[in-house]
Amino acid sequence: MCGIVGYTGTNEAAPVLLDGLAKLEYRGYDSAGIAVMEGDALQVVRRRGKVAELAHTVGHFALTGTCGIGHTRWATHGRPSEANAHPHSSCAGDIAVVHNGIIENFADLRDELAQRGHTLRSETDTEVIAHLIEEAWGASPSGSSEASGLAEAVRIASMRLVGSYGLAVTSAREPGVIITTRRDMPIIVGRAADGSYVASDAIAVLRATRDVVYLEDGQLARLSPEGIEYFDGHGKTIAPQTTHISWDMDVAEKGGYPDFMLKEIHEQPRVIRDTLAGRLVSGHMEIDELDMTSEELNLIDRVYVIACGTSYHAGLIAKEMIESWARIPTEVEVASEFRYRNPIITPTTLVVAVSQSGETADTLAAIRDARIKGARVFGITNVLGSPVARESDGVIYTKANKEIAVASTKSFLGQLVSLTLLALLLAQSKGKMRMNQIRLIFRELADTAEQVERILSDQSAIEEAARACVNATSALFVGRGMGAAIAREGALKLKEISYLHAEAYAAGEMKHGPIALIDEGFPVIAIATQSAVYEKVVSNLQEAKARGALIVAIATEGDEEIVKHADHVIYIPKVRDALSPITASVPLQLLARSIAVMRDCDVDQPRNLAKSVTVE
Ligand code: AGP
Repeated sequence: MCGIVGYTGTNEAAPVLLDGLAKLEYRGYDSAGIAVMEGDALQVVRRRGKVAELAHTVGHFALTGTCGIGHTRWATHGRPSEANAHPHSSCAGDIAVVHNGIIENFADLRDELAQRGHTLRSETDTEVIAHLIEEAWGASPSGSSEASGLAEAVRIASMRLVGSYGLAVTSAREPGVIITTRRDMPIIVGRAADGSYVASDAIAVLRATRDVVYLEDGQLARLSPEGIEYFDGHGKTIAPQTTHISWDMDVAEKGGYPDFMLKEIHEQPRVIRDTLAGRLVSGHMEIDELDMTSEELNLIDRVYVIACGTSYHAGLIAKEMIESWARIPTEVEVASEFRYRNPIITPTTLVVAVSQSGETADTLAAIRDARIKGARVFGITNVLGSPVARESDGVIYTKANKEIAVASTKSFLGQLVSLTLLALLLAQSKGKMRMNQIRLIFRELADTAEQVERILSDQSAIEEAARACVNATSALFVGRGMGAAIAREGALKLKEISYLHAEAYAAGEMKHGPIALIDEGFPVIAIATQSAVYEKVVSNLQEAKARGALIVAIATEGDEEIVKHADHVIYIPKVRDALSPITASVPLQLLARSIAVMRDCDVDQPRNLAKSVTVE
């Protein structure tokens, strides 16, 4: 979603800000803007649309100045427009604010501020912050004066805010200074030889520094060209810990691929290997970061997996494994529903929160709720130190590394591998599987890395199937058992990046309604890999074929029978059913991408979507 970047130092600020904003584009946005201190005045430039358009306008203004803040906005309050784009300014125009998050009491604050003579010029919740700072600093229409400087004014103003925020603020009254603070939104601060940096995502500052401070809720930082000071919520000086970022800058480059999605799909064998590294020690499963003994794990008698979108689909697959291997009743719920329900939670309930970004607002709220109710929470996330990691009792990192394309691919595979490990660990702790069986599955899991490499090495059948589907207006994805869950992920991938309507059904449900959709050439994409339900899936395909469907089957190598029932067959290596989601989801990712490319869609940044959904 929205992105923040700020810089104060010895270089021109505008190019630094625009470069940072370009790095944040992957998060999804609809408008962008920067504010730069030029002489003794703040110059604000905002645009609806892409950062490249903003850069063009900034070039036109030839902005000079070495301190500034920038923002990419994903609209929540007020439509995407220049007036609603950040930075927002105070009445006097000498304070500029960029904000991620949602100010829940903004309507009351607007009324109050208007009554006290402030003029608000946008429809956003953010603008109230600029005016509250103005008041706290004593230059407001009402003339109140409490704060001695910008940092204090921001601290006082933020006490009025209900909701979530990551803020960067600069002012012509304290040139060269940026104040940043946060609640429930990430803020990263870093120091380099040429100055001080702030961003909402480490990727925007990585070119300058790898040693950063992740601000905690309520903390503030005061950035100047000379250095950075940190304060707690009472204004007392603190010395927070620095974190070293080890992942490489090349994650932010396409590395010769036409888009990030394809690059990330090709990284999946590496993700599988890295996620498995060190998990089988002397023949035993070990996940130390979960911080729970085998005895404690043995007491778990109910599991909830909570997640959203693709991560939710990983949860559906985990349910099959946990129930079948560890014999623990498992429910999978979308976090946005779970948080408002009254689920049965006891001290022996385990909640597994799955989130690539580790920032998803609904998942975070569900974690907090589950912990209050007494559950033990395990997070499965891709982002070190993310809110999900910090707020869970234990965490498994998926080792996918930064994912840039909005559509989750390598993270999904990392989640599947991590959840398989968790299911095996629970089975081991509960004594429900023999150790040699666990070791065998672990070895087969490791083999999927090479199997995925084989799938990636020849994509011709996928391309051909994509060409057959490209002009469709809708598609059905079907499967049974594990295949039903994979079908859901396949449908989500297709609709989010190609804008082609797609639905997923358990294949046995087709005759209860969706079969009515099928007419000549209607694409039905079937997960028809070898499993106990293979014959049943084939029967369902025959029903669809009889009504004119164009069948694309994901099938197991060596299955010659399937060609009789399908128009296009995409073969994948033979694996046990439990591991089939890992291999079968790869051709579905490639299929969705190929169709999207053929339909001329922006594969990496699909319309209306954000990489991290940090609002409810
Ligand atoms: C994935 O392709 C989607 N863009 C989306 O469904 C995503 O999985 C969902 O928003 C959850 O995100 P998270 O894993 O970061 O919590």
